[in-house]
This record gives sequence, C-alpha cells and structure tokens, in this order.
Amino acid sequence: MGASPQHIAIIMDGNGRWANQRGLPRAAGHKKGGEAVSRVVDACIKRGIPWLTLYAFSTENWGRPPEEVQGLMRMLNRFLKQTLPEMMEKGVQLRAIGELDMLPDSCYKQLNVDIEKTRHNSTLVLTLALSYGSRQEITRAAQKLARLALEGELNPSDITPEFFAAQLDTVGMPDPDLLIRTSGEMRLSNYLLWQLSYAELWVTPVLWPDFGGEELDAALEDYGRRQRRYGKR
Ligand code: IPE
Ligand code: IPE
Ligand code: MG
Repeated sequence: MGASPQHIAIIMDGNGRWANQRGLPRAAGHKKGGEAVSRVVDACIKRGIPWLTLYAFSTENWGRPPEEVQGLMRMLNRFLKQTLPEMMEKGVQLRAIGELDMLPDSCYKQLNVDIEKTRHNSTLVLTLALSYGSRQEITRAAQKLARLALEGELNPSDITPEFFAAQLDTVGMPDPDLLIRTSGEMRLSNYLLWQLSYAELWVTPVLWPDFGGEELDAALEDYGRRQRRYGKR
C-alpha cells in the first residue's frame, strides 16, 4: 500500500436524502451528519492523518429555505459549544475558511472562542468551510492583489502561483491529497477549486450520516493504490 494522505478534504453531502429515506425532516439528517463529523475526526486521528477540511456550509447554501438555514446555524452553534471540550482532549486545532462574517453573531463568536482555545493543539487540524465558496475566495484574493498593485505596493510580475495561494483562506495549509464526496454526486460544488488541482478524487454512494471509519478505510486503500504523476511520467 502506498503513502497515506496528509490532508483529506470532504464534501459532506446527503443529509437530506438520508432523512428523506426515513420519512424524517431534513433537520434529522443534519443532526446525524453532525455525529458523523465527530466519528471521522476520531478516525483521522487514529490513522495519523494531520489535516482534515470539511465542507459544512457553502455560499450557495444561503439560498436554501430560511428554516433550513436557521436550523443549520443553530446546529453549528451547538456543535461548536459541545465539542470544544472533546477537541481539547483530543488535541484538535479548529480553523475555519469562508466568509465567516456572514455567519449569525452567536456562531461567529463561538467559532472564534473555539479557534482561540484550540490554537495550540497539534494532533489534527480540523478546518470547517463555512459560508465558503471557492470562486468567492479566489475573487477576494484577486481584489486584494489588485488593490496592492494600484497603491504601487505590488508589481504584477511578482504574482506567482505560490504568492497567489498565500492570499487564499487556506494560507499555510498543504493542498488536500484526497477529496472524498459522499452521496454519489460527481462534482466539486465550488469547493477548494485552486487547492484541489492535483488531489485524488474518491466518491462513495454512502450518505454522509452513514459515513465512518470503514468508508474512510476504503478511501485510504484506494488512495494507496493511486499513482500521482503530476503531469510527469
Ligand atoms: C449536506 O447535505 C449538508 C449541507 C449541504 C449543509 P444536503 O443537505 O445537501 O443533503 P442532500 O444533498 O439534500 O441529500
Ligand atoms: C455541497 O453540497 C456543500 C456542502 C456539503 C456544504 P450541496 O448539496 O450544497 O451541493 P450541490 O447542490 O449538490 O451541488
Ligand atoms: Mg446536497
């Protein structure tokens, strides 16, 4: 078996379908999905994977019905409060990417509390993509660079891929080696478009609330068999 990934990114999809299949409200699926997050964090720690980045709420998800959005934000708040002691115990360092100031005040505050409290933990860096859209992130970076250039502080020829990457929310993080998407859809849905340039993709029909260590191992096994060529031969 080949090397294991240092950084796994996951598109946690299928909470709604999970609930639908059981005749339950979508909120029940989101709740189960929250439990899967803790399971996968534990599984990554057990397998020595140091970086995990989860797509929890996209820019486009703001367009869902207000009840669902409010329910998701309440759940996020609860998750951030309830899991803080666990994160401290397990050595999880929490980070977040996305337009965080779009989050409701209470979520934004709790998020910052968790980020601040866990900042010295080093077993696993857990990054939540919240109000996150990759095109928006890239656009923000371009605007920042254009401003600097206009002010005469930046020469356009100094903009290299590395320099550009350093303007993204993921600054300082390695690119994901493996992207997992649950629930079978074969698309990126505006997730980490720049950062996933050379990631290995793995899609499972398993719905996110049912995802756990077993599915993670299947992904890791497949990843271990891949030959990453980066355009070379
Ligand atoms: C993923 O599950 C969670 C979020 C996008 C917040 P969905 O809510 O997208 O579930 P499906 O795709 O409708 O099954
Ligand atoms: C992607 O799932 C976003 C998250 C998992 C947070 P969606 O369910 O929003 O994506 P689409 O609509 O199927 O592309
Ligand atoms: Mg979905």
